Amino acid sequence: MALANKSHEAGPQEDCEGSSSRSGWGLLVTAAVGGTLVALYAVVTPFVTPALRKVCLPFVPATSTQIWNVLKMLENRSGSLVDIGSGDGRIVIAAAKRGFKAVGYELNPWLVWYSRYRAWRDGVHKNTRFYISDLWKVSFSHYTNVVVFGVPQMMPQLEKKLEEELECNARIIACRFPFPCWIPDCTVGEGIDTVWAYDLKHSRGCETKSLEITPKTES
Ligand SMILES: C[S@@+](CC[C@H](N)C(=O)[O-])C[C@H]1O[C@@H](n2cnc3c(N)ncnc32)[C@H](O)[C@@H]1O
Repeated sequence: MALANKSHEAGPQEDCEGSSSRSGWGLLVTAAVGGTLVALYAVVTPFVTPALRKVCLPFVPATSTQIWNVLKMLENRSGSLVDIGSGDGRIVIAAAKRGFKAVGYELNPWLVWYSRYRAWRDGVHKNTRFYISDLWKVSFSHYTNVVVFGVPQMMPQLEKKLEEELECNARIIACRFPFPCWIPDCTVGEGIDTVWAYDLKHSRGCETKSLEITPKTES
């Protein structure tokens, strides 16, 4: 009888402990699932949003042949270089290894942070800069070498922008898709690895202009 009473007295307390530990686990699981979803959203969103923009420019990294072709187009060139939509920084880093002061503009912050890490790991962080920026909102006027791996829909608009901003000594290198109006000075590679180089001085006739404005008159 005494034993029966004891077990009767302990019952509600045990129930209480059991339910509070169950609700503790519940909270923990909810927090873990919620946290995972938030982290997933934060990582995935920057990769998905470029595809939802008016001009869809997703992250498709350059192949090693493509990078090799870009570097071929940069032979005998020096100075500053920009990769427009720099992805994981592979072109910027390869150019920095060839002695360029190389800069990347990229919308996706994860790719920019990863690019900075890669540049540091490869020992070229002093010659590289990566910015989280929208390519349509920055000026590329002070770069002499410009690399872009775009998509056909954006090329006419980008061609117009670069035509307005760049100096006559600029060389523009297009990967995979050419510009619609400029005539390339040089083409290398084939298929998806094709790369086109455009010297603005030729498309604008800058050389002719500079000859025209330096006439010598004899007195
Ligand atoms: C085709 S990938 C090229 C990546 C890199 N240049 C390469 O060759 O490996 C294009 C990159 O442009 C970025 N991007 C898309 N829209 C952009 C914008 N408005 N401004 C800056 N970067 C953009 C994408 O996130 C993507 O990483």
